[in-house]
Amino acid sequence: MIDHRTLRVALLGAGSVGSQVANLLIERADELEERTGARLELSGIAVRDVDAPRDVELPRELLTTDASQLILGSDIVIELMGGIEPARTLILEALNSGADVVTGNKALLATHGAEIFDAADQVGASVSYEAAVAGAIPIIRPLKDSLAGDRVKRIFGIVNGSTNYILDRMDRDGLSADEAMSIAAELGYLEADPTLDVEGYDAAQKAAILASLAFHTTVSIDDVHREGITSVTGEMVESARRAGLVIKLLAVCERLGEGDDESISVRVYPALISREHPLASVRGGNNAVFVEAEAAGDLMFYGAGAGGIQTASAVMGDVVSAARRHIAGGVGVGESPRGDLPVAPIGAIVTRYQIRLEVSDEPGALEAIARAFSAGGVSLATVEQTTIETDDGAPTAQIVIGTHRAHEEDLSDIVAALAASEVVERVASVLRVEGE
Ligand code: HSE
Repeated sequence: MIDHRTLRVALLGAGSVGSQVANLLIERADELEERTGARLELSGIAVRDVDAPRDVELPRELLTTDASQLILGSDIVIELMGGIEPARTLILEALNSGADVVTGNKALLATHGAEIFDAADQVGASVSYEAAVAGAIPIIRPLKDSLAGDRVKRIFGIVNGSTNYILDRMDRDGLSADEAMSIAAELGYLEADPTLDVEGYDAAQKAAILASLAFHTTVSIDDVHREGITSVTGEMVESARRAGLVIKLLAVCERLGEGDDESISVRVYPALISREHPLASVRGGNNAVFVEAEAAGDLMFYGAGAGGIQTASAVMGDVVSAARRHIAGGVGVGESPRGDLPVAPIGAIVTRYQIRLEVSDEPGALEAIARAFSAGGVSLATVEQTTIETDDGAPTAQIVIGTHRAHEEDLSDIVAALAASEVVERVASVLRVEGE
Protein backbone atom coordinates (compact mmCIF):
# COMPACT_ATOMS: atom_id res chain seq x y z
CA MET A 1 0.00 0.00 0.00
CA ILE A 2 1.25 3.51 -0.80
CA ASP A 3 2.11 5.46 2.33
CA HIS A 4 0.46 8.79 1.65
CA ARG A 5 1.67 11.95 3.33
CA THR A 6 -0.68 13.95 5.47
CA LEU A 7 -1.04 17.64 4.62
CA ARG A 8 -2.43 19.93 7.28
CA VAL A 9 -5.08 22.27 5.92
CA ALA A 10 -6.17 25.32 7.93
CA LEU A 11 -9.39 27.11 7.03
CA LEU A 12 -9.88 30.76 7.95
CA GLY A 13 -13.56 31.70 7.80
CA ALA A 14 -16.71 29.58 7.84
CA GLY A 15 -19.25 31.75 6.04
CA SER A 16 -21.35 30.55 3.11
CA VAL A 17 -18.30 29.43 1.07
CA GLY A 18 -16.02 28.45 3.98
CA SER A 19 -18.55 26.13 5.62
CA GLN A 20 -19.10 24.33 2.29
CA VAL A 21 -15.34 23.97 1.78
CA ALA A 22 -14.98 22.49 5.30
CA ASN A 23 -17.77 20.05 4.55
CA LEU A 24 -16.22 18.97 1.23
CA LEU A 25 -12.80 18.47 2.84
CA ILE A 26 -14.35 16.21 5.48
CA GLU A 27 -16.88 14.32 3.30
CA ARG A 28 -14.56 13.77 0.35
CA ALA A 29 -11.36 13.06 2.29
CA ASP A 30 -10.86 9.60 0.72
CA GLU A 31 -11.54 10.81 -2.82
CA LEU A 32 -9.21 13.79 -2.36
CA GLU A 33 -6.49 11.48 -1.05
CA GLU A 34 -6.77 9.29 -4.15
CA ARG A 35 -6.64 12.36 -6.36
CA THR A 36 -3.71 14.13 -4.72
CA GLY A 37 -1.66 11.34 -3.15
CA ALA A 38 -1.95 13.08 0.21
CA ARG A 39 -4.34 12.89 3.13
CA LEU A 40 -5.80 16.41 3.44
CA GLU A 41 -6.41 16.83 7.14
CA LEU A 42 -8.59 19.76 8.09
CA SER A 43 -6.66 20.81 11.17
CA GLY A 44 -8.98 23.61 12.25
CA ILE A 45 -11.37 26.36 11.23
CA ALA A 46 -10.74 29.89 12.48
CA VAL A 47 -13.95 31.86 13.08
CA ARG A 48 -14.89 35.04 14.88
CA ASP A 49 -17.64 33.36 16.93
CA VAL A 50 -17.66 29.60 17.50
CA ASP A 51 -21.38 29.72 18.40
CA ALA A 52 -22.58 31.59 15.29
CA PRO A 53 -25.19 29.77 13.15
CA ARG A 54 -23.72 28.29 9.92
CA ASP A 55 -25.06 27.01 6.57
CA VAL A 56 -23.50 23.60 7.29
CA GLU A 57 -23.01 21.95 10.67
CA LEU A 58 -19.28 21.70 11.40
CA PRO A 59 -17.42 19.61 14.01
CA ARG A 60 -17.21 21.92 17.00
CA GLU A 61 -13.77 20.64 18.04
CA LEU A 62 -12.33 22.10 14.79
CA LEU A 63 -13.54 25.64 15.51
CA THR A 64 -11.11 28.14 17.03
CA THR A 65 -10.85 31.89 17.33
CA ASP A 66 -7.02 31.80 17.22
CA ALA A 67 -6.20 32.02 13.51
CA SER A 68 -2.46 32.71 14.00
CA GLN A 69 -2.02 29.59 16.12
CA LEU A 70 -3.92 27.51 13.57
CA ILE A 71 -1.69 28.69 10.72
CA LEU A 72 1.50 27.50 12.46
CA GLY A 73 2.51 24.13 11.06
CA SER A 74 -0.06 24.19 8.24
CA ASP A 75 0.83 23.11 4.70
CA ILE A 76 -2.13 24.82 3.05
CA VAL A 77 -4.07 27.80 4.41
CA ILE A 78 -7.46 28.60 2.89
CA GLU A 79 -8.50 32.20 3.55
CA LEU A 80 -12.23 32.81 3.12
CA MET A 81 -12.76 35.55 5.71
CA GLY A 82 -12.95 38.38 3.17
CA GLY A 83 -12.00 42.01 3.83
CA ILE A 84 -8.52 43.49 4.09
CA GLU A 85 -7.56 42.93 7.73
CA PRO A 86 -6.91 40.59 9.43
CA ALA A 87 -6.93 38.57 6.16
CA ARG A 88 -3.81 40.34 4.79
CA THR A 89 -1.73 39.83 7.93
CA LEU A 90 -2.81 36.19 8.27
CA ILE A 91 -2.00 35.41 4.62
CA LEU A 92 1.46 36.97 5.01
CA GLU A 93 1.96 34.91 8.21
CA ALA A 94 0.93 31.76 6.34
CA LEU A 95 3.28 32.44 3.42
CA ASN A 96 6.18 33.30 5.70
CA SER A 97 5.66 30.02 7.53
CA GLY A 98 5.99 28.20 4.17
CA ALA A 99 2.32 27.34 3.60
CA ASP A 100 0.59 27.59 0.24
CA VAL A 101 -2.39 29.95 0.30
CA VAL A 102 -5.78 29.56 -1.36
CA THR A 103 -8.02 32.62 -1.15
CA GLY A 104 -11.23 34.00 -2.61
CA ASN A 105 -10.50 37.50 -1.36
CA LYS A 106 -11.03 39.81 -4.35
CA ALA A 107 -10.89 43.02 -2.27
CA LEU A 108 -7.51 42.06 -0.84
CA LEU A 109 -5.97 40.96 -4.15
CA ALA A 110 -7.22 44.09 -5.94
CA THR A 111 -5.55 46.34 -3.35
CA HIS A 112 -2.57 44.38 -1.90
CA GLY A 113 -2.05 41.74 -4.61
CA ALA A 114 1.54 42.82 -5.41
CA GLU A 115 2.59 42.60 -1.74
CA ILE A 116 1.08 39.14 -1.35
CA PHE A 117 2.52 37.75 -4.59
CA ASP A 118 5.98 39.16 -3.68
CA ALA A 119 5.79 37.48 -0.27
CA ALA A 120 4.89 34.16 -1.96
CA ASP A 121 7.80 34.52 -4.44
CA GLN A 122 10.25 35.17 -1.59
CA VAL A 123 9.52 31.77 -0.04
CA GLY A 124 8.58 29.84 -3.21
CA ALA A 125 5.00 29.27 -2.03
CA SER A 126 1.89 29.56 -4.18
CA VAL A 127 -1.16 31.82 -3.90
CA SER A 128 -4.24 30.61 -5.80
CA TYR A 129 -7.48 32.53 -6.12
CA GLU A 130 -9.88 30.94 -8.61
CA ALA A 131 -12.80 31.78 -6.28
CA ALA A 132 -12.00 35.51 -6.31
CA VAL A 133 -13.55 36.14 -9.75
CA ALA A 134 -16.84 34.84 -11.13
CA GLY A 135 -17.55 32.21 -8.44
CA ALA A 136 -17.53 28.70 -9.86
CA ILE A 137 -16.38 29.69 -13.36
CA PRO A 138 -12.79 28.65 -14.15
CA ILE A 139 -11.32 31.92 -15.46
CA ILE A 140 -8.19 32.56 -13.36
CA ARG A 141 -6.43 29.32 -14.33
CA PRO A 142 -7.27 29.70 -18.06
CA LEU A 143 -5.75 33.20 -18.02
CA LYS A 144 -2.77 32.29 -15.86
CA ASP A 145 -1.92 28.92 -17.45
CA SER A 146 -3.88 27.94 -20.56
CA LEU A 147 -3.53 31.33 -22.29
CA ALA A 148 -0.08 32.19 -20.88
CA GLY A 149 1.51 31.62 -24.30
CA ASP A 150 -1.10 33.61 -26.20
CA ARG A 151 -1.71 37.36 -26.24
CA VAL A 152 -5.00 38.47 -24.71
CA LYS A 153 -6.44 41.47 -26.53
CA ARG A 154 -9.64 42.02 -24.61
CA ILE A 155 -11.77 40.63 -21.82
CA PHE A 156 -15.30 41.72 -21.29
CA GLY A 157 -18.16 40.29 -19.38
CA ILE A 158 -20.59 40.20 -16.51
CA VAL A 159 -18.72 39.54 -13.26
CA ASN A 160 -21.25 40.72 -10.68
CA GLY A 161 -24.29 38.50 -10.26
CA SER A 162 -26.43 40.71 -8.03
CA THR A 163 -26.41 43.71 -10.39
CA ASN A 164 -27.10 41.34 -13.28
CA TYR A 165 -30.09 40.02 -11.33
CA ILE A 166 -31.36 43.58 -10.69
CA LEU A 167 -30.95 44.68 -14.33
CA ASP A 168 -32.45 41.42 -15.59
CA ARG A 169 -35.60 41.78 -13.44
CA MET A 170 -35.95 45.42 -14.55
CA ASP A 171 -35.68 44.31 -18.18
CA ARG A 172 -37.79 41.15 -18.08
CA ASP A 173 -40.43 42.03 -15.51
CA GLY A 174 -40.53 45.81 -15.70
CA LEU A 175 -39.55 46.16 -12.03
CA SER A 176 -38.21 49.47 -10.77
CA ALA A 177 -34.59 49.57 -9.60
CA ASP A 178 -35.74 49.73 -5.96
CA GLU A 179 -38.11 46.76 -6.31
CA ALA A 180 -35.47 44.62 -8.03
CA MET A 181 -32.87 45.57 -5.42
CA SER A 182 -35.18 44.63 -2.51
CA ILE A 183 -35.73 41.19 -4.03
CA ALA A 184 -31.99 40.73 -4.64
CA ALA A 185 -31.40 41.62 -0.96
CA GLU A 186 -34.09 39.15 0.21
CA LEU A 187 -32.49 36.39 -1.87
CA GLY A 188 -29.11 37.14 -0.22
CA TYR A 189 -27.49 38.10 -3.55
CA LEU A 190 -26.04 41.40 -2.33
CA GLU A 191 -22.81 41.90 -0.43
CA ALA A 192 -23.18 42.87 3.27
CA ASP A 193 -22.51 46.43 2.04
CA PRO A 194 -24.72 46.63 -1.10
CA THR A 195 -22.82 49.66 -2.44
CA LEU A 196 -20.00 47.23 -3.25
CA ASP A 197 -22.34 45.69 -5.83
CA VAL A 198 -24.49 48.56 -7.08
CA GLU A 199 -21.68 51.13 -7.25
CA GLY A 200 -19.50 48.67 -9.18
CA TYR A 201 -16.72 48.18 -6.60
CA ASP A 202 -17.08 44.38 -6.58
CA ALA A 203 -16.91 44.23 -10.39
CA ALA A 204 -13.97 46.67 -10.39
CA GLN A 205 -12.01 44.46 -7.97
CA LYS A 206 -12.59 41.49 -10.28
CA ALA A 207 -11.67 43.55 -13.36
CA ALA A 208 -8.36 44.55 -11.70
CA ILE A 209 -7.55 40.89 -11.03
CA LEU A 210 -8.48 39.80 -14.59
CA ALA A 211 -6.50 42.65 -16.21
CA SER A 212 -3.42 41.90 -14.08
CA LEU A 213 -3.42 38.32 -15.30
CA ALA A 214 -4.38 39.01 -18.90
CA PHE A 215 -1.84 41.78 -19.48
CA HIS A 216 0.93 40.61 -17.12
CA THR A 217 0.78 43.98 -15.42
CA THR A 218 -0.03 44.96 -11.85
CA VAL A 219 -3.47 46.59 -11.92
CA SER A 220 -5.12 47.74 -8.71
CA ILE A 221 -8.68 48.83 -8.02
CA ASP A 222 -7.52 52.48 -8.16
CA ASP A 223 -6.62 51.98 -11.85
CA VAL A 224 -10.16 50.87 -12.74
CA HIS A 225 -12.67 53.40 -14.10
CA ARG A 226 -15.88 52.56 -12.22
CA GLU A 227 -19.53 53.49 -12.72
CA GLY A 228 -22.27 51.54 -10.95
CA ILE A 229 -25.91 50.91 -11.84
CA THR A 230 -27.50 53.49 -9.53
CA SER A 231 -28.00 55.88 -12.46
CA VAL A 232 -29.88 53.23 -14.48
CA THR A 233 -33.62 53.92 -14.45
CA GLY A 234 -36.61 51.88 -15.58
CA GLU A 235 -37.02 54.42 -18.40
CA MET A 236 -33.48 53.69 -19.67
CA VAL A 237 -34.05 49.92 -19.51
CA GLU A 238 -37.38 50.26 -21.35
CA SER A 239 -35.87 52.55 -24.00
CA ALA A 240 -33.05 50.04 -24.57
CA ARG A 241 -35.57 47.20 -24.88
CA ARG A 242 -37.55 49.04 -27.54
CA ALA A 243 -34.32 49.50 -29.52
CA GLY A 244 -33.44 45.78 -29.38
CA LEU A 245 -30.75 46.39 -26.74
CA VAL A 246 -30.24 45.49 -23.10
CA ILE A 247 -28.29 47.21 -20.30
CA LYS A 248 -25.67 45.09 -18.51
CA LEU A 249 -23.00 46.07 -15.98
CA LEU A 250 -19.85 45.17 -17.92
CA ALA A 251 -16.23 44.83 -16.92
CA VAL A 252 -13.97 45.62 -19.87
CA CYS A 253 -10.19 45.09 -19.90
CA GLU A 254 -8.47 45.82 -23.20
CA ARG A 255 -5.22 46.74 -24.88
CA LEU A 256 -5.12 50.16 -26.55
CA GLY A 257 -2.55 51.34 -29.11
CA GLU A 258 0.45 49.43 -30.37
CA GLY A 259 4.18 49.07 -29.82
CA ASP A 260 5.65 51.84 -27.66
CA ASP A 261 2.20 53.49 -27.46
CA GLU A 262 0.52 50.41 -26.04
CA SER A 263 -1.51 50.85 -22.87
CA ILE A 264 -4.45 49.12 -21.22
CA SER A 265 -7.91 50.24 -20.24
CA VAL A 266 -9.77 48.65 -17.33
CA ARG A 267 -13.30 49.82 -16.70
CA VAL A 268 -16.68 48.91 -15.26
CA TYR A 269 -19.91 50.58 -16.32
CA PRO A 270 -23.49 49.90 -17.36
CA ALA A 271 -23.44 49.51 -21.15
CA LEU A 272 -25.85 48.65 -23.95
CA ILE A 273 -25.46 45.42 -25.85
CA SER A 274 -27.53 43.93 -28.63
CA ARG A 275 -30.19 41.44 -27.52
CA GLU A 276 -28.61 39.08 -30.08
CA HIS A 277 -25.29 39.12 -28.21
CA PRO A 278 -24.64 36.01 -26.05
CA LEU A 279 -24.15 38.24 -22.97
CA ALA A 280 -27.76 39.48 -23.34
CA SER A 281 -29.01 36.02 -22.40
CA VAL A 282 -27.02 35.88 -19.14
CA ARG A 283 -29.88 35.75 -16.68
CA GLY A 284 -30.29 36.28 -12.95
CA GLY A 285 -27.16 35.94 -10.83
CA ASN A 286 -25.06 34.20 -13.47
CA ASN A 287 -21.74 35.52 -14.80
CA ALA A 288 -20.13 35.27 -18.23
CA VAL A 289 -16.69 36.35 -19.38
CA PHE A 290 -15.52 36.75 -22.99
CA VAL A 291 -11.81 36.54 -23.71
CA GLU A 292 -10.45 37.61 -27.11
CA ALA A 293 -6.91 36.31 -27.67
CA GLU A 294 -4.74 36.72 -30.74
CA ALA A 295 -4.20 33.03 -31.44
CA ALA A 296 -7.11 31.39 -29.61
CA GLY A 297 -9.74 33.77 -31.01
CA ASP A 298 -12.91 34.27 -28.96
CA LEU A 299 -13.58 32.22 -25.84
CA MET A 300 -16.59 32.39 -23.53
CA PHE A 301 -16.79 31.26 -19.91
CA TYR A 302 -20.25 31.02 -18.34
CA GLY A 303 -21.82 29.82 -15.11
CA ALA A 304 -22.62 30.53 -11.47
CA GLY A 305 -20.90 33.71 -10.33
CA ALA A 306 -21.65 33.26 -6.65
CA GLY A 307 -23.19 30.81 -4.18
CA GLY A 308 -21.60 28.89 -1.31
CA ILE A 309 -21.32 25.43 -2.81
CA GLN A 310 -20.59 26.69 -6.33
CA THR A 311 -17.74 28.94 -5.19
CA ALA A 312 -16.47 26.13 -2.94
CA SER A 313 -15.84 24.14 -6.14
CA ALA A 314 -13.34 26.79 -7.29
CA VAL A 315 -11.65 26.76 -3.86
CA MET A 316 -11.36 22.97 -3.88
CA GLY A 317 -9.69 23.00 -7.30
CA ASP A 318 -7.02 25.31 -5.89
CA VAL A 319 -6.62 23.14 -2.78
CA VAL A 320 -6.04 20.04 -4.94
CA SER A 321 -3.43 21.92 -7.01
CA ALA A 322 -1.66 23.16 -3.88
CA ALA A 323 -1.65 19.62 -2.45
CA ARG A 324 -0.18 18.20 -5.67
CA ARG A 325 2.55 20.86 -5.60
CA HIS A 326 3.42 19.93 -2.05
CA ILE A 327 3.70 16.28 -3.04
CA ALA A 328 5.70 16.96 -6.23
CA GLY A 329 7.93 19.57 -4.56
CA GLY A 330 9.39 22.65 -6.25
CA VAL A 331 8.41 26.28 -5.93
CA GLY A 332 4.97 27.72 -6.64
CA VAL A 333 4.44 29.36 -10.03
CA GLY A 334 4.18 33.07 -9.29
CA GLU A 335 2.52 35.90 -11.19
CA SER A 336 4.15 37.45 -14.27
CA PRO A 337 3.72 41.22 -13.87
CA ARG A 338 6.55 42.18 -16.22
CA GLY A 339 4.31 43.51 -19.00
CA ASP A 340 4.24 46.71 -16.95
CA LEU A 341 1.82 48.49 -19.31
CA PRO A 342 0.49 51.94 -18.37
CA VAL A 343 -3.21 52.21 -17.58
CA ALA A 344 -4.94 54.72 -19.87
CA PRO A 345 -7.54 57.23 -18.63
CA ILE A 346 -11.18 56.65 -19.59
CA GLY A 347 -10.95 59.49 -22.15
CA ALA A 348 -8.63 57.34 -24.27
CA ILE A 349 -11.16 54.58 -25.02
CA VAL A 350 -12.88 54.22 -28.37
CA THR A 351 -16.37 52.75 -28.53
CA ARG A 352 -19.89 53.47 -29.77
CA TYR A 353 -22.35 55.60 -27.79
CA GLN A 354 -26.07 56.11 -27.44
CA ILE A 355 -27.22 59.55 -26.30
CA ARG A 356 -30.86 60.30 -25.42
CA LEU A 357 -31.78 63.97 -25.45
CA GLU A 358 -34.99 65.85 -24.70
CA VAL A 359 -35.10 68.92 -26.91
CA SER A 360 -37.48 71.78 -27.71
CA ASP A 361 -39.52 70.58 -30.69
CA GLU A 362 -38.89 73.62 -32.88
CA PRO A 363 -37.19 74.42 -36.23
CA GLY A 364 -33.40 74.06 -36.21
CA ALA A 365 -33.15 71.92 -33.05
CA LEU A 366 -31.97 68.79 -34.85
CA GLU A 367 -29.63 70.82 -37.02
CA ALA A 368 -28.01 72.39 -33.90
CA ILE A 369 -27.49 68.96 -32.39
CA ALA A 370 -26.02 67.52 -35.59
CA ARG A 371 -23.68 70.53 -35.76
CA ALA A 372 -22.40 69.85 -32.23
CA PHE A 373 -21.46 66.29 -33.21
CA SER A 374 -19.88 67.39 -36.46
CA ALA A 375 -17.84 70.13 -34.71
CA GLY A 376 -16.66 67.58 -32.15
CA GLY A 377 -15.54 65.13 -34.85
CA VAL A 378 -18.00 62.35 -33.97
CA SER A 379 -19.94 60.66 -36.73
CA LEU A 380 -23.63 59.82 -36.28
CA ALA A 381 -24.82 56.32 -37.15
CA THR A 382 -28.53 56.53 -36.25
CA VAL A 383 -30.95 59.27 -35.25
CA GLU A 384 -34.51 58.62 -34.07
CA GLN A 385 -37.02 61.20 -32.99
CA THR A 386 -40.30 60.79 -31.12
CA THR A 387 -42.61 63.38 -29.64
CA ILE A 388 -42.96 63.00 -25.90
CA GLU A 389 -45.42 64.25 -23.31
CA THR A 390 -44.00 66.61 -20.70
CA ASP A 391 -45.59 67.93 -17.52
CA ASP A 392 -45.69 71.55 -18.74
CA GLY A 393 -47.19 70.60 -22.12
CA ALA A 394 -44.38 72.34 -24.08
CA PRO A 395 -43.59 70.71 -27.46
CA THR A 396 -40.73 68.36 -26.66
CA ALA A 397 -39.01 65.71 -28.73
CA GLN A 398 -36.88 62.82 -27.59
CA ILE A 399 -33.90 62.30 -29.89
CA VAL A 400 -31.94 59.09 -29.58
CA ILE A 401 -28.56 59.28 -31.28
CA GLY A 402 -26.31 56.32 -31.97
CA THR A 403 -22.73 57.19 -32.89
CA HIS A 404 -20.08 55.39 -34.86
CA ARG A 405 -16.97 54.50 -32.89
CA ALA A 406 -15.60 57.63 -31.23
CA HIS A 407 -13.04 58.73 -28.66
CA GLU A 408 -14.57 59.11 -25.22
CA GLU A 409 -12.90 62.49 -24.71
CA ASP A 410 -14.47 63.85 -27.92
CA LEU A 411 -17.86 62.46 -26.98
CA SER A 412 -17.79 63.92 -23.47
CA ASP A 413 -16.91 67.38 -24.82
CA ILE A 414 -19.92 67.15 -27.15
CA VAL A 415 -22.23 66.03 -24.34
CA ALA A 416 -21.06 68.97 -22.20
CA ALA A 417 -21.75 71.35 -25.11
CA LEU A 418 -25.21 69.83 -25.67
CA ALA A 419 -26.08 70.07 -21.97
CA ALA A 420 -25.26 73.80 -22.11
CA SER A 421 -27.10 74.41 -25.40
CA GLU A 422 -30.43 76.25 -25.51
CA VAL A 423 -32.23 73.65 -27.60
CA VAL A 424 -31.45 70.72 -25.26
CA GLU A 425 -33.78 70.57 -22.29
CA ARG A 426 -32.23 67.44 -20.75
CA VAL A 427 -29.48 64.93 -21.52
CA ALA A 428 -31.55 61.93 -20.43
CA SER A 429 -28.76 59.35 -20.70
CA VAL A 430 -25.39 58.62 -22.25
CA LEU A 431 -24.45 54.96 -22.52
CA ARG A 432 -21.59 53.15 -24.22
CA VAL A 433 -22.56 50.41 -26.68
CA GLU A 434 -20.31 47.36 -26.35
CA GLY A 435 -19.94 43.96 -27.92
CA GLU A 436 -19.93 44.92 -31.59
N1 HSE B 1 -21.60 40.17 -4.74
C1 HSE B 1 -20.99 39.29 -5.67
C2 HSE B 1 -21.87 39.19 -6.89
C3 HSE B 1 -20.76 37.93 -5.08
O1 HSE B 1 -23.02 39.66 -6.83
O2 HSE B 1 -21.44 38.69 -7.90
C4 HSE B 1 -19.77 37.10 -5.85
O3 HSE B 1 -18.53 37.69 -5.92
